[in-house]
Amino acid sequence: ERTQVAILGAGPAGLLLSHLLHQEGIDSVVVEARDQEYVQARVRAGVVEHGAADILRDAGVGEGLDRDGIPHEGIELRFDGESHRIPMSDLTGRHITVYGQQKVVRDLTERRLADGGKIRFACGPAQIHDVDGDEPSVTYTVDGRRHRIVADFVAGCDGAHGSGRTALGATPVEKVYPFAWLGILARAAPRIEELVYANHERGFALYSMRSAEVSRLYLQVPASDRLEDWPDERIWSELAVRFSLGGEPWEPTRGEIFERSIAPLHSYVGEPLQRGRLFLAGDAAHIVPPTGAKGMNLAIRDVSILAPALAAQLRHGYEHDLRSYSARTLDHVWRVEYFSWWMTTMLHRFGEDAFNRRVQIAQLRSVVGSRAHSTALAEAYVG
Ligand code: FAD
Ligand code: DHB
Repeated sequence: ERTQVAILGAGPAGLLLSHLLHQEGIDSVVVEARDQEYVQARVRAGVVEHGAADILRDAGVGEGLDRDGIPHEGIELRFDGESHRIPMSDLTGRHITVYGQQKVVRDLTERRLADGGKIRFACGPAQIHDVDGDEPSVTYTVDGRRHRIVADFVAGCDGAHGSGRTALGATPVEKVYPFAWLGILARAAPRIEELVYANHERGFALYSMRSAEVSRLYLQVPASDRLEDWPDERIWSELAVRFSLGGEPWEPTRGEIFERSIAPLHSYVGEPLQRGRLFLAGDAAHIVPPTGAKGMNLAIRDVSILAPALAAQLRHGYEHDLRSYSARTLDHVWRVEYFSWWMTTMLHRFGEDAFNRRVQIAQLRSVVGSRAHSTALAEAYVG
């Protein structure tokens, strides 16, 4: 099989890239390791920033987001038993939309399939070959039969554990945090109207939502913890303690927990994002800790730059934008790495360091007490 762009991974990055290329008249094939059901059931991020929502709308795939997404004009920071609102829209004129990554993936998949797009699901891990030559290719094996797709370019949108990273062979710059997030989805009406980011001496907690009936909650836990360590009762009572207000526990509305997972936190950038005819985008290229809600947004932004650059090269032989893709993308990526690291260090508990703890509280007080400092947070958060 032959195509112009072979894309690994049917996550937000790979699917949107394929769609944007299609709109530019460029042919692509998406090769996905897992089956369609698995990909669409995978629960992950939930915040779409202002600019990413515009990218989806401009690409004609913002209908679901505008219909079912929940616009948020502020967030709450909770620490020292006090609640402080950051009025993001007042400070920046922009807002975020709470809309699950699953829905973004579903919308993009449906649109690709309706447009006759080629998505090969359940291929197992695909491999990348010959990116330094003129005929790079992707191979995968299904039912003992080996398939090969020859392309002009290969896009590695296959996440943190894919083949794109290996084929790139870059030296990563990374940081591993000594904790993880336990995330749950519960059938419970959220007790909040805006997201609550809580810094408590027992650790970080986050109250988010998916709809009027479904709450999304996270707890900082030791990286070595397993789901068995967290029975339902322990999750709810720990959340109540970490969201305390005025010295009293403050309990989220309880409901059946129907999804749970533990994800480690780290920061990672593999530079540059190109090797020969291979380009990386999304989690394959970089990871941010989830505290700033940036992972999916970065993936969307990357491919909004990569798609027109690939199209300019393939349609007009114009190379400049493709050659500068890595540099242009990394400039923004590093600013988001900085924001995500800053939010993470300001909000999580790092061991027993008393100095660190006092500085965190002072930092939070300056953020909520200064319009300039609040605006800096809000600008980065809304994107
Ligand atoms: P992905 O969505 O990971 O898509 C990559 C795709 O490639 C997958 O479908 C995978 O199956 C496929 N694949 C992998 N290897 C191969 C291969 N060799 N061949 C073919 N296909 C392959 N961000 C937040 O902001 N907030 C959160 O709460 C949050 N929670 C997260 C929880 C978890 C467990 C994870 C892993 C990530 C989370 N993120 C979160 C980050 C966010 O979901 C990602 O940044 C986003 O999914 C990136 O999109 P992507 O398309 O680059 O990669
Ligand atoms: C959600 C996830 C995040 O990482 C975050 O910072 C805010 C919200 C969520 O899943 O809703």
